Amino acid sequence: MNGEAPYPPMKTYSIATIPGDGIGKEVIPAGQRVLQTLADASERFRLVFEDFGWGGDHYRQHGLMMPADGLDQLRSKDAILFGSAGDPHIPDHITLWGLRLKICQGFDQYANVRPTRILPGIDAPLKRCTPADLDWVIVRENSEGEYAGVGGRVHQGLPLEAATDVSVMTRTGVERIMRYAFRLAQSRPRKRLTVVTKSNAQRHAMVMWDEIAAQVATEFPDVHWDKELVDAATARMVNRPASLDTLVATNLHADILSDLAAALAGSLGIAPTGNIDPERRFPSMFEPIHGSAFDIMGLGLANPVGTFWSCVMLLEHLGEADAAQTLMQAIEHTTADTRLHTRDLGGTATTAEVTDAVCARVRAMAPARSPKPVPH
Ligand code: IPM
Ligand code: MG
Repeated sequence: MNGEAPYPPMKTYSIATIPGDGIGKEVIPAGQRVLQTLADASERFRLVFEDFGWGGDHYRQHGLMMPADGLDQLRSKDAILFGSAGDPHIPDHITLWGLRLKICQGFDQYANVRPTRILPGIDAPLKRCTPADLDWVIVRENSEGEYAGVGGRVHQGLPLEAATDVSVMTRTGVERIMRYAFRLAQSRPRKRLTVVTKSNAQRHAMVMWDEIAAQVATEFPDVHWDKELVDAATARMVNRPASLDTLVATNLHADILSDLAAALAGSLGIAPTGNIDPERRFPSMFEPIHGSAFDIMGLGLANPVGTFWSCVMLLEHLGEADAAQTLMQAIEHTTADTRLHTRDLGGTATTAEVTDAVCARVRAMAPARSPKPVPH
C-alpha cells in the first residue's frame, strides 16, 4: 500500500446496438463513436458493444425482423441503442411489431420518455416562443392502450368485412405510468404535471385513466397537476408552451403530441426517446424518434443529434450522470454553431462532421484518462 486512496473499480457496461433500417445504419455508428469517446475519457466506466443486424434485411433473408430468441440475446445487456425500423418494401405493421414493439413489450419498457427543448442555435418555428418557454418531458404509456395489438378482421375482402383495433387499459398499467410521471414531475424544478385525456368522448378507459390520475396525485401533494383534453393540448402547446412542463398521455395520444413537440422545438432530427423499464428487470432501450428516412439514407446527411441525446438518456439510466452532462453540453455546443447544422435544420453539415465536432468537444471537456497506477 502506498497510502493513496484506492482507485475506484472500473464498471463495464454491455450495450447492444441495433441500427435497424434506413438512416439508423448511419446514426447508430455515430452514437457508438460518441459513447466510446466518453468511455475513453472516463475513469469510471468502459463500454462493450455488440451489434445486431436486425431489421428489413434480416426479414428478407429469414422472414423475421429478428431471430426467435432475439429477446434472450438482449436480456443480459445493460442497455440497447436502437436506430429505426421501417422498410419501403415491407408493410409498416410488420417492421414495427416484429422488432421495436417486440422489444418494448417483451421487456415491459412501459415508460416512454420524450424530453423536448429548443437547443442553442436552433431556429424554432413559433415566433412568440423563447427557449425558456419550451422545456417539456412527455411520458408516453408504452405497453398497452391503443398499441395493445388486440383486434382482428373478419370476412376479409368481402363487402361485409369488419375490423377492430381495441385499446386495452389496465389499472396496473395506468397506475404505474401515472406514478412514474408524477415522480418525474416531482424531480423537475417546476413540479408540474399535465395529465392528457379524452374522457369526454372515450367514456370507459379514459374515465378510469382520469380516476387513477386523481388517486395517484394524492401520493404527490407537492406536484401541481392539471388535466387537459388531447385536442386542447395541441393548441396549448402552440399558444401557451410555458404553461406545460411534464405531460403524461396514452400510447397513441403521446405518439402524436411528441411529433408536434419535436417540430415545435425545431426538428424531428433532434428528438430523443427512452423506452424504460423503471423496475430494471430488463434492459431499457434508447432511440432517436425520427424514422428510417429512406429519402436521405446512405447520403451521410442524417442528423445524429437525436441519437446523441438518446445516448445522454442512456448514460443517465446507467447512473453515469457526469458523462451524460458532458455529452449534453457537447451537443449544445455543437448545435449552437449553425455551420454544424444538418439539412433538416437548414444547414449543409454531414453526419460525420457533426459527429466529429461532438467527439472533439467531449475530448476537450474530459481530458483523456490518466494511466492507472501500477500497484506495488
Ligand atoms: C414513434 C414512432 C412509432 C410509433 C412508429 C414508427 C410506429 O412514430 O416512436 O413515435 O408510433 O410508436
Ligand atoms: Mg411517433
